[in-house]
Amino acid sequence: MIMEDATLRFDRLARILHWISAVVILWAMFSGLCVSLLSAQYVEQTYVIQVAKHFITDFNVSLTILYMPLFVLRAIHALRTKKPHYGETLSTVQIKTANLAHICMYILVATLLCSGLLMMNRPFGVFGWITMMPIITDLQWLNVYSRIHQYSSYALLVFIFLHLGALLKHQYSGNQILKRML
Ligand code: HEM
Ligand code: HEM
Repeated sequence: MIMEDATLRFDRLARILHWISAVVILWAMFSGLCVSLLSAQYVEQTYVIQVAKHFITDFNVSLTILYMPLFVLRAIHALRTKKPHYGETLSTVQIKTANLAHICMYILVATLLCSGLLMMNRPFGVFGWITMMPIITDLQWLNVYSRIHQYSSYALLVFIFLHLGALLKHQYSGNQILKRML
């Protein structure tokens, strides 16, 4: 029987947190972009579209607020544990590039979570359980955080494509990188 080298995989907590994060972030990203497209001037703002936009935005606010403690846990766990080694599969430059890209993704997600909270200009809640008041009321600052939110979401989208592109490339060239996270 062939034994798998456990040190080549992320530990269980890292894997669980990665996949929860992937679902939450991919959903918040693509539904957020759809809502922003639906708000474009050339889209007729029918009643159904307005209701759908509000529903998705409120749902995303609740979901991403609930996700915040998990993100903190994930970041602390990543800082406190060593990454599994890559064996002979990647060059030093590739490993450094992957590490740098991962750090950028952590920073961008943190920026999105903080800017999202700070740009709220109305009372908001978590699935109706609790209601919070806006943290900032100054219109100019609300605008600044909204811009930060918008541009960091575009930057994260680029990194997600790079992340998935690199994974696909490695899978095709026989490097089983995906297995590290399964
Ligand atoms: C990982 C977390 C998050 C991701 C990936 C994400 C992603 C996005 C994206 C892609 C948009 C559309 C941007 C545009 O083109 O205008 C958006 C909008 C929005 N996000 Fe987030 N977001 C996240 C966290 C949050 C948080 C924590 C909050 C608030 C607590 C929030 C509140 C909003 C709101 C209210 C909008 C609509 C803005 C508007 O109407 O102009 N987001 N988000
Ligand atoms: C279906 C989508 C996804 C797949 C298949 C996937 C797969 C993977 C795999 C295989 C790794 C290990 C890579 C390595 O060891 O070099 C990894 C790591 C990572 N992924 Fe993803 N991923 C996905 C979505 C995402 C998303 C949406 C994010 C959002 C930011 C993300 C952020 C990360 C980060 C930060 C790491 C590094 C983990 C660490 O060092 O703590 N992934 N992913």
